[in-house]
Amino acid sequence: MDLLPLRNATRPGDDPIFALNREANQRKASGQAVINATVGALLEDDGALAVLPTVLETLHGVSAAATAGYAPIAGVADFHKAVIADLLGTSPLAAQAVAVSTPGGTGALRHALSTFLDHDQAVLTSSFYWGPYATLAEENARRLVTFPMFDGAMRFDTAGFARAVEALADAQGRVLVFLNDPCHNPTGYSMTPDEWTAVTAALVAVSKRVPTAVLADVAYLAYGRDQRSFLKHLEPLAAHAAVLFAWSGSKAFSLYGARVGALVACTADAAQRTAIERALSFASRGTWSNCNAAAQHAIARCLTDPALRARVDAERERLRALLDARVAAFNAAAKGTALRYPPYDGGFFVTVLVPDAKATAEALKARGVFVVPQAGAVRVALCGVAAHDVAQLVAHLAATV
Ligand SMILES: Cc1ncc(COP(=O)(O)O)c(C=O)c1O
Repeated sequence: MDLLPLRNATRPGDDPIFALNREANQRKASGQAVINATVGALLEDDGALAVLPTVLETLHGVSAAATAGYAPIAGVADFHKAVIADLLGTSPLAAQAVAVSTPGGTGALRHALSTFLDHDQAVLTSSFYWGPYATLAEENARRLVTFPMFDGAMRFDTAGFARAVEALADAQGRVLVFLNDPCHNPTGYSMTPDEWTAVTAALVAVSKRVPTAVLADVAYLAYGRDQRSFLKHLEPLAAHAAVLFAWSGSKAFSLYGARVGALVACTADAAQRTAIERALSFASRGTWSNCNAAAQHAIARCLTDPALRARVDAERERLRALLDARVAAFNAAAKGTALRYPPYDGGFFVTVLVPDAKATAEALKARGVFVVPQAGAVRVALCGVAAHDVAQLVAHLAATV
C-alpha cells in the first residue's frame, strides 16, 4: 500500500526545546557537568521541580466523584468565577468577562486562533515569541506575522507595533494580537506603563474600523512585578473589541502536567459576550471535549478559601524569591560584559542577542551549557539554573557570543 498522505508529516514531531532538554539530561546522566537552561519549568537549586505543596495537597483532596467525573464542556463554574476574580479583581473588565476552561494556556491560545480568525488569516505578535504560537497557528490553518519587538534602545517598539496592526487591518479586515506580558517568553521583558498606553491607543484606533481582538498571554503573571496595573490600559478596549486573557495554572500553581487553564474573554456588549461564550464552548466540544476536572476544583478552592489561599501565596512567594535571586545574579554577572539583552527584572527567561544563534548554541553545548537558539538570539531559561551556577553560565555566554 502507498503511504497515506498526511498533514504535517514532514514536521518535527518533537518540540525542539524538549529535544534539547533530553540531550542535556542524557549528558548529565553520563556524568558530564551540564548547565541546562532550556526548559520553562521552575526548578529548585538542587534540580527538583519547584512545587506548591498546598496546591498538590488540595488536588489530592478533591473527591473521587469530582475527580473521576466529567467536567462541564465549558468548564467548572466555580473555577471560572475564581479565575476571573483573581485575574481581574476590581477592574470593570470583571463584569464584562466570560471564561472557558482549556488545557493550559496553550488551549486558550488555540481557541483564540480558531475562534477570532478565519482560515488563512494571521495573528500579530512580537518578533521574539514563544515558538508554539507559530505551531498552533499552522496546525489550525492560520498564520503568524510579527512586528519588531524592540527599537534601537531595546525598548518596546510601539511605533512598529502601530504600523503592523494597521497593515494587518488593511490586509485582512480584522485583527487578532497576542501580547505576552509581563515576563515575556523568551526575552523576560515587561512593558512599561507608557508602552502599554501607546500599544492600547493603537488598538483602540484600529478597533474603530475593523473587528479587533487582543489577547494578553499572562502565563507568567504570577512572577511579574506588577500584576494589575496593565488592566487599566486594556479596559477602554472592551468597548470596541474583545479583550482576551490566556490564563494558565502551569506556572502560577506549578501544575504544568495537570493541564489547567482558561480563556477569559471580556467585551462590553452583552450579546457579543454570549456569542463568544457559545463559540468557545463549541470549540471545546470539537477539540478536547472537556478538561481536567480535579485541577479545576483544586485551583478554585486554592483561590477562594482564605486559609488555603494564604498558604499558596506564601509558598509562591518563596518560588518568586528563588527566581529573583537568579535574575539578580544574572544582571550582576552580565554587568560590564559585552552581552546584549533587553531590560530584565523578573521572569523565567532572558534572551541574549547574538549574530549567529545556532553557532552560539553549539559552542555553548560544547562547554556543557544548553540554551535555545532563536532568530538572532539565544533563550536562557534561568528558571532551571541554580543560583550558584548563574555566574558561570554568564561567563560561558560572554566567552561565546
Ligand atoms: C508564553 C507562554 N504562553 C503560554 C504558555 C502555556 O503553557 P501551558 O499550556 O502549560 O499553560 C507557555 C508555556 O510555556 C508560555 O511560555
